[in-house]
Amino acid sequence: MQKKTVRDLAADEIRGKRALVRVDFNVPLDEHCHVSDDTRIRAAIPTLEYLLERGARVVLLSHLGRPKGKPEAKYSLDPVCGALSALLPGRNVIFVESTDTDEAMKATHALKEGEVLLLENTRFLPGEEKNDEVLSRQLAELGDFYVNDAFGTAHRAHSSTEGIARHLKPAVAGLLMQKELDYLHGALENPARPFVAILGGSKISGKIDVISALLPKVDALLIGGAMACTFYKALELETGTSLVEPDRVDMAADLIDESGSLLILPHDATVAPSIAEGDKARAVSRENIPADMAMLDIGPRSAESYTRAILSAKTVLWNGPMGVFETSPFDKGTRAIADAMAQATAKGATTIVGGGDSAAAVEQAGLSSKMSHVSTGGGASLEFLEGKTLPGVDILDDR
Ligand code: 3PG
Repeated sequence: MQKKTVRDLAADEIRGKRALVRVDFNVPLDEHCHVSDDTRIRAAIPTLEYLLERGARVVLLSHLGRPKGKPEAKYSLDPVCGALSALLPGRNVIFVESTDTDEAMKATHALKEGEVLLLENTRFLPGEEKNDEVLSRQLAELGDFYVNDAFGTAHRAHSSTEGIARHLKPAVAGLLMQKELDYLHGALENPARPFVAILGGSKISGKIDVISALLPKVDALLIGGAMACTFYKALELETGTSLVEPDRVDMAADLIDESGSLLILPHDATVAPSIAEGDKARAVSRENIPADMAMLDIGPRSAESYTRAILSAKTVLWNGPMGVFETSPFDKGTRAIADAMAQATAKGATTIVGGGDSAAAVEQAGLSSKMSHVSTGGGASLEFLEGKTLPGVDILDDR
């Protein structure tokens, strides 16, 4: 880790100081506005406890959803405050509903050591997503030092993730940020081998840069999800009614040519006329996809051979489901990958699950705790794997 973290701060840089912490509390809410998955909130607790135990007055900034620079009740962080309180027993957690920065400022000064103040959704502020200079300065006034623990938002150059750190020093990484970067960096730069990556999802377009960036680093790259069909098309196979990206077929053909034997496509597919007709699902070899059916999961032979590859690996990195994992029976391929990764972890491999759908699939399978690391960042982990600089990390103080 080349960036400073909260552990690099001296005791007197923390005690009694207002620690302004950017977290990613962009969590799902149910129809009653209750937090339906508190994973991201739980993931921030070690940093918050670290600061609170050392006498900091903790001020939290986060976004929720994508409001367009003005308040919208359904995106209020109010419900998140309750969920956070439950995870910090014995701590006073205060919520400031107002988006007025003067009011927020007063609340930060009224905060006592060991207390937590959650401010309202940063995306209610018109300058946030524009990384507005004036807003960045105003936000910087809300703390005595800055901590970025919002890995999930580190790929966004917004006022609360990037601009702010130009004006508030020290600016350091939180413990979650450090853990995320250590795992992903370790896999890319110094993986125990064999290193196997599994990429899935519906569209090749969002994954091309990741595939190109990973190919020189991995010992095998296993492909799943509907994006396999764009590769099938490049091999001039029948893809039926599967989702194919016609404008990416040439690119897929180039990747197959360049990759030698590293890129592995599923040998078989589970096909059905539609997602709603799971009772008509059947496995076919990839050469035999019927013209009136769509590939909705990898097939059982592929699930078995991918399992073998995962079990032979020392480092496994997974991003993107193998099929329509939300709907049975098209969840089998994704479930097989999750099971194989859990077994690989038990055998001593380092297993890393990218955020987003694959993290949701692992959670659904009840296997999150059986992985070495499940990332809290979907877009952020993809951009990191593509080799891009994450602005929310880049701006932090160097060691
Ligand atoms: C995420 O959920 O991926 C992060 O919170 C970032 O959210 P965004 O894609 O709305 O910027």
